[in-house]
Amino acid sequence: MAGALLRYGPGEAAPLALAQHGFGINRIVPGDGWIAYGAVDGGTRVLDPETGAQIADLTLERRPILAMAHHPATQQLAVGDGEGFIMVVDTASWRIDRDFRATRQGPVWALAFSAAGDVIHAGGLDDIAYSWPVEMLDAFEPGISGARSFLREAATMPNGERQFMRKCSICHALEPGPSRKAGPTLHGLFGRAAGSLPGYAYSDTLSGSDIVWDAATIDALFDEGPDHYIPGSKMPMQVIAAPDDRSDLIAYLKVATKGK
Ligand code: HEC
Repeated sequence: MAGALLRYGPGEAAPLALAQHGFGINRIVPGDGWIAYGAVDGGTRVLDPETGAQIADLTLERRPILAMAHHPATQQLAVGDGEGFIMVVDTASWRIDRDFRATRQGPVWALAFSAAGDVIHAGGLDDIAYSWPVEMLDAFEPGISGARSFLREAATMPNGERQFMRKCSICHALEPGPSRKAGPTLHGLFGRAAGSLPGYAYSDTLSGSDIVWDAATIDALFDEGPDHYIPGSKMPMQVIAAPDDRSDLIAYLKVATKGK
């Protein structure tokens, strides 16, 4: 589902569309003379808030963007993503100052600077919140190299597996049993009634649904997007537009969700 960044100015009759983005926009951060946004597909852009003209494109290969924090006095913008990385950008030059893996596993959901801007606090799905002195961050494993090795691996994967790794694995495990990810494990998915996995806190939409997951219903879910197929669900909107990508993903899931 496409996203848009709209500006409602005082005394203006209609909103001004600053940006159209092919995927949902998760975060918006205003600055002095700029506005930054982060999107479901990893898109991270900085625009002129008056005209929508692009000031910087900070997009890396990681997705989705889930958290952003700005510290005006030290001119730092921090961006956290679904793959557990935080990058820190200098808002004077729009250069990426630091980029590192911040969580042991899973996404960075929340970010905040300390009052002085010298410490970053991050919350994820690990059962602790982390705090780092910004100065120390260079000592951490740099993130970009990790992302590159994933890209190399991804290039040799069959398409269905690649679809899953890129678009679903952030939030869904394939193994049985409790999972620390945001979504329920997809183990045993085919033939399972929607919202029926014991121990997972589904939205009312899914737990009250009479959908049974099979090739046709999973195809419809990502053809229409969760926001249309199961409106009110906690799953973020995303569409897989190409029918081949959907059928490859489903073929992969059929095997991978049976497990060992
Ligand atoms: C950013 C997190 C996120 C991503 C990415 C994501 N999901 Fe989900 N998914 C969820 C959440 C959260 C739920 C539970 C929704 C609810 O309770 O409303 C869910 C539910 C589901 C369900 C229903 C499961 C059940 O037990 O009823 C299926 C099927 C599913 N997702 C498949 C996928 C597939 C396939 C992909 C990749 C194309 C994907 N999801 C990507 C978070 C995600």
